[in-house]
Amino acid sequence: MPPSEPRRLLVTSALPYANGAIHLGHLVEYLQTDIWARYHRLVGNTCFYVCADDTHGTPIMLRAQKEGIAPEALIARMSEEHQRDFEAFGIAFDHYGSTHSAENRKHTEVIYAALRARGAIVEKEIEQAYCPKEEMFLPDRLIKGDCPRCKTADQYGDSCESCGATYAPTDLGNAHCASCGTPPVRKGSRHLFVRLQHFQEWLRAWVRSGTVPDEVANKLDEWLKDDLRDWDISRDEPYFGFRIPGEEKLYFYVWLDAPVGYLASTEQLLAKRNDLGFAFEDVWQKQGFEIHHFLGKDIVYFHTLFWPAMLHAAGLRTPNKVHVHGFLTVDGAKMSKSRGTFVSARTYLEHLDPVYLRYYYACKLTARVDDLDLNLEDFVDRVNADLVGKLVNLASRAGGSLLERLDRRIGAVPPSGRALLTEIRAAQREIEEAYEQGDYARVTRTTMALADRANKLFNEEAPWKSVAADPEAARGSVSTALNAARLLAAFLAPIVPTLVADLDAFLGEPTRWSALGQDLSPRVLGPFRHLLARLEGEKVRAMIDASKPADATPPPLPATPSALQKDPLSPECSIEDFGKIDLRVARIAAAEHVEGAGKLLKLTLDLGGGTTKNVFAGIKSSYAPEQLVGRLTVCVANLAPRKMRFGTSEAMVLAASNDAGLYILSPDTGAEPGLRVK
Ligand code: 2FM
Ligand code: ZN
Repeated sequence: MPPSEPRRLLVTSALPYANGAIHLGHLVEYLQTDIWARYHRLVGNTCFYVCADDTHGTPIMLRAQKEGIAPEALIARMSEEHQRDFEAFGIAFDHYGSTHSAENRKHTEVIYAALRARGAIVEKEIEQAYCPKEEMFLPDRLIKGDCPRCKTADQYGDSCESCGATYAPTDLGNAHCASCGTPPVRKGSRHLFVRLQHFQEWLRAWVRSGTVPDEVANKLDEWLKDDLRDWDISRDEPYFGFRIPGEEKLYFYVWLDAPVGYLASTEQLLAKRNDLGFAFEDVWQKQGFEIHHFLGKDIVYFHTLFWPAMLHAAGLRTPNKVHVHGFLTVDGAKMSKSRGTFVSARTYLEHLDPVYLRYYYACKLTARVDDLDLNLEDFVDRVNADLVGKLVNLASRAGGSLLERLDRRIGAVPPSGRALLTEIRAAQREIEEAYEQGDYARVTRTTMALADRANKLFNEEAPWKSVAADPEAARGSVSTALNAARLLAAFLAPIVPTLVADLDAFLGEPTRWSALGQDLSPRVLGPFRHLLARLEGEKVRAMIDASKPADATPPPLPATPSALQKDPLSPECSIEDFGKIDLRVARIAAAEHVEGAGKLLKLTLDLGGGTTKNVFAGIKSSYAPEQLVGRLTVCVANLAPRKMRFGTSEAMVLAASNDAGLYILSPDTGAEPGLRVK
């Protein structure tokens, strides 16, 4: 197929508010977008990914006041923290700006002037709650009082955290200003509105032009059926934001200048990188660039009604596509601080490698607007079984000690491996389609099904058995496996870029999408470094514990059948608990009495491949040393070493016991030292 013209894309994620830390919920979107942008760069398109902090509004102003600092200082600090977290998760923005910038002010004013020029700005007198003591209008969140439904005290002016009721602040009992406690009064002021009806016809067509997912378009149609209401774009002082030109006391509402941040960030990017050879107008005015916004379902309204209307009014390009995702749940429930499932990016990074989350989110992301559940047990299982168990292990089994015995040289792919590689390559087009549609779940599914085939072939050929007698046959199998691993890794490169870069470095070949048709040329490979450790359930639990407030009593979990059916004899052992235990077949190479120890025998276990471990086992009452030497048994090979009075015990031999004695476990005939017990 002839290569198609590279595309030019501008990609954005919603701008995070500058008054809070990045958490795992945010990361769904930034990872979703980053994967998409990386995919497009990988296939050779020009793709700029821009974002910024959303810095304006009352909550930021009040938080700065509370901290006794200027809002500028607060947003500078938050921006640094946000960028540090994003970078650690491998989110590769081309530019990260701020809505509190000269460029943003300029574009906001230009759009406002365009709206005015079209007669789309109207003035109206409105009445709002006002705190006479603090001399400020109070947004709903700054008024507290008793819930009109359940009467719980101290609820916000828009909704009750206790019963979930939503209402107007005027419905609250004992309403008072959240910061000083004074009861608010009603006060009138003049506000500015965008008359969205001006754009209603145009919006109807825009929504139905393939720009939004169908399920979102249906919802928008409902809104667009009736006349759109005027949108209040002004806020009274005091406010942290941009003052509206020509107005003494009015500021632009944060939601007006927030999306303008997409324009400002583009301008900043192209100014700092003039080597890119594009001007702002190339992206936002002329044809040639596609504009793709990624955002959550809660802010669809802003991005599919207000924002396109603003762009249209100003004669700027409107988005080609709005990609909408659902919310994150953890173990099937809303993230909860008291349960420890409200995990900040920082806390995650203190416990786990970001590659795990990138992979897991990808497994769950599709083109649909569904919520995404981070099921902690499944997280561990899926990462270990697939990413580590299928891809990383294939590379390490082929490229590790086996290759050592082949002088680390890989050769041509033998006929036995050709069909496998052809099958993998045939999936390249499907992978492209899946990425394009945002169906990363399909990318991982398809890749892992192919990884199963590669592992199966490798197991059937069992080059570790033939390496001594027929090293060239073994070299062929290893070469097939490493070529397969390279192709499969390339498919996952946008998802787990650091892992793939490490594999590429080992193979001596960077991932080039257009070069996947060719095999790796025969070459000598450097030493193998392990690519990725298994994800330990213990660390996930530690992360959750660290996310719990110190004084938390977690809310009860709903009773589940499995919780009710627990064996009362022993606590439940999850699959990841079990997966942590490295059980191995061992030969008892030596056994001896230990001076002064009544119950212990000292055993030397041979675990194959030259590995031995010393064990002090409390089995003297049932076995004489000579009964044990030469026997095969099963041991826990990865037990943390325990210092005992007589020396260090490095493993544990498994035995059953009753009143009559102890019974060492033995594998069936045919087992060899070092075999893994599963
Ligand atoms: O919902 C939010 O977190 C907003 N800060 C998103 C703004 S997106 C864009 F419009 F700037
Ligand atoms: Zn209530």
